[in-house]
Amino acid sequence: MKNLKILITGGAGFIGSHAVERLYRENQVTVFDNLSSGKIEHIKNFNIKFVKGDVRNKEEILKVMEDKDIVLHLAANPDVRRGEVDNFIDMEVNFIGTYNVLESMRLRDVKGIIFSSSSTIYGEAPIPTKEDYGPLEPISFYGASKLAAESYISAFSHMYGIKGISLRFANVVGARGTHGVIYDFIRKLMKDKSKLEILGDGTQTKSYLHVSDCIDGLIFAFENSVKIYDEYNLGTEDTTNVLEIARIVVEEMNLENVRLFTTGGEGGRGWKGDVKNMHLSIDKIKSLGWRPRMGSTEAVRLAARELIGEIYGKENTNSGSGL
Ligand SMILES: NC(=O)c1ccc[n+]([C@@H]2O[C@H](COP(=O)([O-])OP(=O)(O)OC[C@H]3O[C@@H](n4cnc5c(N)ncnc54)[C@H](O)[C@@H]3O)[C@@H](O)[C@H]2O)c1
Repeated sequence: MKNLKILITGGAGFIGSHAVERLYRENQVTVFDNLSSGKIEHIKNFNIKFVKGDVRNKEEILKVMEDKDIVLHLAANPDVRRGEVDNFIDMEVNFIGTYNVLESMRLRDVKGIIFSSSSTIYGEAPIPTKEDYGPLEPISFYGASKLAAESYISAFSHMYGIKGISLRFANVVGARGTHGVIYDFIRKLMKDKSKLEILGDGTQTKSYLHVSDCIDGLIFAFENSVKIYDEYNLGTEDTTNVLEIARIVVEEMNLENVRLFTTGGEGGRGWKGDVKNMHLSIDKIKSLGWRPRMGSTEAVRLAARELIGEIYGKENTNSGSGL
């Protein structure tokens, strides 16, 4: 991807900041973000334009769409669990926010969109799950909003000739992550090194994609897919379970004698709406010629190392006292 004017919504977030880092040298990048979970410090070292704004606000998004070639649309409520207490946020930000992005693309004649969808659109599907699996029955509002957004991207692509692609991510992990199981475990262990609470029964088995592979894959898919609209799973060929992740984090933090205990949870899930076992088939994107460099366990270990280094570094700078 070269010499393009790219708008990255949610570009100050975890995945967004890695996309910015990858793309800013050879393209003109504008980041549009309301900084609800993203941080300016994630992107302060890159030569880009930053616009603070909200995808729920049509005027703001329309203004920033002027002159853009493509949009990498990442802005979203990223927290699946929030749906337990708020069943509107996913509809408003993830779905209507995507509609606002698409409509402003149409009005400003922007011809391409890459969308960060999710494995959660499949609900509790047989694994490894292929892109053509159906019926699609998400079990969370987050999953439902991503599925609705995908449908609208497909319709906008076909109605207005916008090239669209939805990437259904597995769990993405790596530096600058601000949520998710690895981050939670590190935070918990920093508070109390003697024990670690694991939500669910610990056997939840999922695939974990390193953020460097995620950015590679999404760029590759957009450049190499030929249809006006298409969707691809983006994940790894293997899976890891939550207990294994806990052990990796404990090991990477050089801790000993940590008591791991599970909360059980309904059907062993971490929370209501948590898909217990997730493994996406990546045959479709492999057939285009792409595969991830890391497997799940490797990605988890590297991400744990990166996040521990980052969090400890920050705490040391902030407190000056070390941990
Ligand atoms: N991290 C994962 O494992 C994962 C998996 C599947 C899909 N995704 C999707 O990838 C995208 C990026 O996720 P992430 O993990 O980097 O999370 P993140 O929270 O770090 O990034 C989301 C970004 O969007 C911004 N944002 C939120 N609401 C906004 C709004 N109304 N207007 C403008 N900006 C807004 C946030 O400030 C943040 O910078 C999201 O769409 C998420 O749903 C992530």
